Amino acid sequence: MYPLRRNRRLRTNEAIRSLVRETAISPNDFIAPLFVVEGKNKKEEIASMPNYFRFSLDLLEKEVKELWALGIKSVLLFVKVPENLKDNTGKEALNADGLMQRAIKTVKNTVPEMLVMTDVALDPYSVYGHDGVVTDGKISNDDTTAILAEMGLSHAKAGADILAPSDMMDGRILEMRNLLEDQGFYDTGIMSYSAKYASAFYGPFRDALDSAPVDAENIPKDKKSYQMDPANREEAVKETLMDIEEGADIVMVKPGLCYLDIVRDIRNVVDIPVAVYQVSGEYAMIKAAAEKGWLDHDAVVLEQLTAIKRAGASMIASYFVRDAVKLIS
Ligand code: PBG
Repeated sequence: MYPLRRNRRLRTNEAIRSLVRETAISPNDFIAPLFVVEGKNKKEEIASMPNYFRFSLDLLEKEVKELWALGIKSVLLFVKVPENLKDNTGKEALNADGLMQRAIKTVKNTVPEMLVMTDVALDPYSVYGHDGVVTDGKISNDDTTAILAEMGLSHAKAGADILAPSDMMDGRILEMRNLLEDQGFYDTGIMSYSAKYASAFYGPFRDALDSAPVDAENIPKDKKSYQMDPANREEAVKETLMDIEEGADIVMVKPGLCYLDIVRDIRNVVDIPVAVYQVSGEYAMIKAAAEKGWLDHDAVVLEQLTAIKRAGASMIASYFVRDAVKLIS
C-alpha cells in the first residue's frame, strides 16, 4: 500500500528498468520474409513497402549472407511467379526446377546453416489470385489440399527445413504430414498458419507478388470463405488445436498487432511454439507515418515487436527484422 509501495522506484533509471524488464527481443526470435523474382541482378523495391525488395537469385545470395552476419538464422521464402506460368491449379508450383525450388537451393548453398522456411500456397501461382483451385465460383478444399501436400513435398525435396502452409484449407496439415511421412521426410517441419485472418493488412504483400484475387465474373473477390473472420476469437483456438492434432510443429497467428489477444489465448492453451507474422500492411503503416514525420520509426518498430513477444510469440516473422537487429545490438 502507498507509500510503502512506490511502483516508480523500479523505474528510476535504465539500470533498474533493465533488471526488472520482463520481455526482451533478440535476433533469435526473428524470421526474415524474402521475396524472390526471376532474372539477374534484380533488386526491385516494392512500391507499398518502402525499403523492402524482391531479389533475383544472384542477389538473394548476398542478402542471405548479410542476414546471417546480422544473426538472423531463419528465412521465409515467397516467389513472384511470371504471369505466363500461372493457371488454376498451380502446376508450376510442383516444378522441381521452379523458382521456389531454385531459391531453396540457392539459400542452402549460400548459407547451409540458414533455416529455410517456405510459403506453401497457390495464390502466387493462381491466375485467379486465390489460395485454392477455383471450381464453379468456389474455392475447392480437397482438390487444393492434395496439391498443397505435393507442393510441400517438392519444397522438402529441394531442401526446405520447414513448410509454411498459408492457405487456410481444412485438413491440409494432415495431408501434408502424411505425404512427408510416406516419402521419408521425417524431419521436415510444418509451421501452420493456423489462425490466419481475412485481413485488409495483406494489401502490400499482394502488390509485391502480384497475387491479389482478380476481379472477374464468378471469381470470389476476397478470401473470406477460407481465411478467418476478424471478429472471431474462440474459433482461432479451435483452428489451432486442430492443426496441432494434424501434425503441425509450430502454429501461427497472422496478422500481428490487431490480433495479440488471439496470440495470448493460444499461448495459454498450446504446448508448442507460436509464431506471429507482423504483415505487410503493418510495415507499410509505420513506414508511411514515419515518412511524414508523424511517428518515431525506430521506437515504434521496437515497441511493436516487443508487444508481439510479450503477448506470447515464440518467434516473429517481420519485414523489420534487419532494422530491429541493428537497433537492439
Ligand atoms: C497468401 C499469403 C498472404 C500473406 C502471406 N501468404 C496474403 C494473402 O493471404 O492474401 C500475407 C503476408 C503479408 O501481408 O505480409 N498465401
